Amino acid sequence: MNILITGSKGQLGCELRRLISTGVAEIGAIPEVYREASVLYCDLDELDITDEQACLRFVDSNDIGMIINCAAFTNVDACESKPELAAAVNADGPRNLARAAERVGATLIHISTDYVFAGDDPSPRVETDAPSPRSVYGQTKLAGEQQVAAECSRHFIVRTAWLYGYEGANFVKTIMRLARENGMIKVVDDQYGSPTSANDLAYELVKLALTNEYGIYHCTNNGTCSWFEFASAIVDIAGIPCEKNACSTEEFVRPAKRPAFSVLDNARLRATIGDEMRNWRDALESYLENVGSSD
Ligand SMILES: NC(=O)c1ccc[n+]([C@@H]2O[C@H](COP(=O)([O-])OP(=O)(O)OC[C@H]3O[C@@H](n4cnc5c(N)ncnc54)[C@H](OP(=O)(O)O)[C@@H]3O)[C@@H](O)[C@H]2O)c1
Repeated sequence: MNILITGSKGQLGCELRRLISTGVAEIGAIPEVYREASVLYCDLDELDITDEQACLRFVDSNDIGMIINCAAFTNVDACESKPELAAAVNADGPRNLARAAERVGATLIHISTDYVFAGDDPSPRVETDAPSPRSVYGQTKLAGEQQVAAECSRHFIVRTAWLYGYEGANFVKTIMRLARENGMIKVVDDQYGSPTSANDLAYELVKLALTNEYGIYHCTNNGTCSWFEFASAIVDIAGIPCEKNACSTEEFVRPAKRPAFSVLDNARLRATIGDEMRNWRDALESYLENVGSSD
């Protein structure tokens, strides 16, 4: 099987490459079939997903049987000031890949986000809950989901949240840097979610992709915390002495509105392949043990 991974230099793309090249994730061995697969890793410089003709040509000429779309415009605040670019990458791009996949009968695994929900209901969201995004990022990601569902019959839409991987910038690395530089962190304590290891997510994606149980899934590490609790765990586990201060969202105004409660329930994942996602704290401990050696 020939597999295309788009956005391959991003956090999730890099973890997929790690899993497929080594055959193992932190939580288990990946299915054998990936050993025989020929995987084409492309980022913006090799395949711009906003170019429909380029997507069609690439999938045709490389006899692609599976696409995992990790490409996205993920800077949530920048999406507010660049809505056209956000729509092109987060909505038109997935549509182009969906059309290309459909033309050759390929499976498309598309990654989406907790930001498709408003985040004002303090109970975990399941896949059948109605989305209601409050930011340009969330609106364009929802439009991408809808395009994928409309254009490609063999599609998986997998929503995740609070993602961190070994490559690239993320909240975990930022908090460690700020704690070391300033001896102090100040983090919002009134937004809740589930920090998610990109390595764990990648493992579930490669398993799910081999089923034909198409549709929408939620996939985050289990358990819930606030950003402040997450940041505190990061510095505690990493052993970085620093002063920890909690603040409210009102004290930390950002261009994009954040969901206050963005916990996703992995209900369909549990029912389909079993939910092997770890508790967020266990996944964070593994990450902090390994992150130094992966740089
Ligand atoms: N990060 C999170 O906390 C989070 C939370 C929930 C859901 N998600 C979703 O999870 C998925 C993976 O996220 P991630 O954190 O791995 O993202 P990421 O690290 O930002 O990686 C995205 C990659 O896509 C590339 N890209 C941007 N525009 C492109 C285009 N037009 N064509 C091809 N590639 C393009 C980016 O290149 P440049 O860097 O050069 O722009 C980058 O290498 C995304 O769908 C995201 O929406 C992420």
